[in-house]
Parts: sequence; C-alpha cells; structure tokens
Amino acid sequence: MRLNIAIDGPVGAGKSSIADAVAKKLGILHLDTGAMYRALGLKALRTETDVRDERAVTALCAELQLDVRYGEAGQVTMLDGEDVSGLIRTPEVSMAASTVSRYAEVRRMMVRRQQELAAKQDMLLDGRDICTTVLPDAPVKIYLTASSEERARRRWLEMREKGEPDTFEEVLAQVIARDEQDMNRPVEPLRQAEDAVLVDSTEMSFDQVVDTILRLVEEKTHGA
Ligand code: DC
Repeated sequence: MRLNIAIDGPVGAGKSSIADAVAKKLGILHLDTGAMYRALGLKALRTETDVRDERAVTALCAELQLDVRYGEAGQVTMLDGEDVSGLIRTPEVSMAASTVSRYAEVRRMMVRRQQELAAKQDMLLDGRDICTTVLPDAPVKIYLTASSEERARRRWLEMREKGEPDTFEEVLAQVIARDEQDMNRPVEPLRQAEDAVLVDSTEMSFDQVVDTILRLVEEKTHGA
C-alpha cells in the first residue's frame, strides 16, 4: 500500500518544517500544499487580480503554470517556470493565499493536483484539509496544533531572525486573523478529522514532535 501521511493543522503549528523532517527520516517526499495556494496568491498579486474576485481568481487558477520539484533542500515551487519558493513567504502573499483558498473551484483544482501527486509515490502531505478532503483514507492522519500565542511566538522569532520588524502583538494578530479566516470559510473550513490523531506541540520541542509522529507512523503501518 502507498505510504501516504496526512498532516493538518492551523497556521504556525510548525507543520511544514516538522513535515520536512519526518519525510526526510522516512525517505519519502513532502508536499507542502500551502505553497500551491501561495503561488496562486502571488500570481494574483503580480497580475493585479483582485483576490476578492472569485471568478477572476478561479480563471487564474485554471491556467496556473505551477510545478513542484524536489531539490537538495526539499520542495521547489515553480510558477511560470520561475522558482518562487522564497517569494511566496511574505505576509502579503500569506493573506492573499488565505483569501484565494476560500474558493470552492480553486480548492477542487488544487486538491485534484495534490491527489495525483500522492497517488504516484509514497508521500507526506501537509495543509489544512489533507486529512478531511485530500487523503481521507491515508493510513496515517495527524492534526498538529499549538496555542495561538505559542504559534505566534515561533513565527515572531523566525521573523526576527530574518530582520523583519513586526512586533509580537502584530504577529499574534495576524495568526488570529488567519485562523479566523481559515476556520470560518464556507468551503472546507479547517477542522480536525474525527479519525486524525491530535498532536499538541505547545509544550514540545521540535525533536519531540518529530519523534511522536514517527512513532505514530510506525504504529499505524506495522500495527501496534
Ligand atoms: O500553510 P500555509 O500558511 O503555507 O498556507 C497558505 C494558505 O493556504 C493558508 O491561508 C491556508 C491555505 N491552505 C489551504 O486552504 N489548504 C491547504 N491544503 C493548504 C493551505
């Protein structure tokens, strides 16, 4: 059977870096699905498409030249043949991605691309709807979260390292705003799948979270 691992959870829970580490340990690829919505957000900003215009954004998505490759450092997100892996990490793109990801048709197209990739190979996927919609039958399903203060604190430390000037309060407000938007959107709101295992990383170190997930994978795939 395909080893597909699904990790969901809110913004800033560390999904992406945790997923990277777990996938590396297991020797499988990691698909950061958020990067796909971010690429669409970036494309909208670049083409001055109003992200609130569902029709225009859906049309943009249908034509999106999006490609995911794998290099030494993991996933490389390509938009129109350009590596945009770094450019999609700005707060402006984050907000645009959160808005465009609310649209049903956009989600349908992105989910289909993600399912095709996962069907082809052993893969770990992380995002907001992986357990609930993209891979509901994945053998391992995890909901990774942490308190909003802790998630904001981690993000803020990361931003400070990069010399970005936002205060902790600003970052916390952004985290809360995106939670609001992601959890209350009409289409596929973020929620924990009933059969997903909850991992709350508020009081855990990075390595503890990785080990917890590796143990779960072991249990689920070899029978506890
Ligand atoms: O995980 P991230 O911050 O890179 O995600 C960017 C945005 O895309 C975020 O607001 C939620 C959305 N998203 C989604 O709706 N479904 C996914 N599978 C991944 C991300």
